[in-house]
Amino acid sequence: MTYNVVPATSRDYRRLADKALPRFLFDYIDGGANDELTLARNVSDFARITLKHNVLRDVSRIDTATTLAGERAAMPVILAPVGLAGMFKRRGEVQGVRAANRVDVPFTLSTVGICPVDEVARAAEKPFWFQLYMVKDRKAVQGLLERAMAAGCQTLVFTVDLPVAGMRHRDTRNGLFEKNLRGALMRGWQVMTRPGWVYDVGMRGKPHAFGNYADLVSEGADLNAYKEWVDNNYDNTVTWKDIEWVRTIWKGRILIKGILEGRDAQSAVDVGADGIVVSNHGARQLDSVSSTIRKLPEVVAAVGDKTEVFMDGGVRGGLDVLQDSCKFGAPCHRTV
Ligand SMILES: Cc1cc2nc3c(=O)[nH]c(=O)nc-3n(C[C@H](O)[C@H](O)[C@H](O)COP(=O)(O)O)c2cc1C
Repeated sequence: MTYNVVPATSRDYRRLADKALPRFLFDYIDGGANDELTLARNVSDFARITLKHNVLRDVSRIDTATTLAGERAAMPVILAPVGLAGMFKRRGEVQGVRAANRVDVPFTLSTVGICPVDEVARAAEKPFWFQLYMVKDRKAVQGLLERAMAAGCQTLVFTVDLPVAGMRHRDTRNGLFEKNLRGALMRGWQVMTRPGWVYDVGMRGKPHAFGNYADLVSEGADLNAYKEWVDNNYDNTVTWKDIEWVRTIWKGRILIKGILEGRDAQSAVDVGADGIVVSNHGARQLDSVSSTIRKLPEVVAAVGDKTEVFMDGGVRGGLDVLQDSCKFGAPCHRTV
């Protein structure tokens, strides 16, 4: 086929990913929690919004450049943290930072990236952002934050909406959590049907460890090991007080990611957050919560004049319009 091959929208990239990835990996990215009600809302609530259409303005010189957490960017877009990106494409985090640098927008490295922060720093042309999941071993957290600072990261994105891993039925259906022969055969079959992935990631994309916590999780980590590690190690006792502790270590900016309520946004400001990300974790955590776009006005009304407000959600549903939400009365930037 010589037509319909060049991806034009995120829906097209989704179609290509569906063809390229083993089913359990595609569904891991594509899916949401439980009945995926919030996943659908993240997109449909956006779709209800109409744009203003003023005419006869001089638009010959349009500049989308802005400042995001104190850094200049070509447009109000940030690459959000994606755990395990190196399982989807060879050394995915390195490819991500290079792409972000090319178009001059910030890149956020996940705590649970495949590539460690030092490897990403070697590929990066400028400082990138670092995302933190708090684990019980505070020494390990401190060591990781120090490595991120040494690698030049100045902005920390502290994710607070994952006290326990969300329940994602697609993962169960794909046999991800079956530790028996049946599970191994199911996953093996899904891998065998994607020889391109086997060559690109399986063979050439090693090591497949959780780069930043390689000493805590063993090499050859699979999604099952990942979930087990999350269940055993993520610290679900964390409260607002722990942000003070993070502050004692992290010398740069701190953004709190995973805020949906105006009241929580106010608490984030009270503990000195430099910004907040209105996010429901791409509807991957708690199903039946609101879409992010629906909550944005409430959050901006609560803290928009006190801190920087970012928002994500809906891109995996095919949302392509980059909405600048200034109409809600305060600057708001999108993470994708
Ligand atoms: C495969 C995948 C992995 C993710 N891993 C992380 C992560 O490690 N840390 C984090 O804070 N958010 C993570 N997220 C959530 C994203 O940062 C972001 O909040 C979400 O994808 C936004 O929703 P959207 O993709 O529907 O636009 C992940 C999302 C996906 C799809």
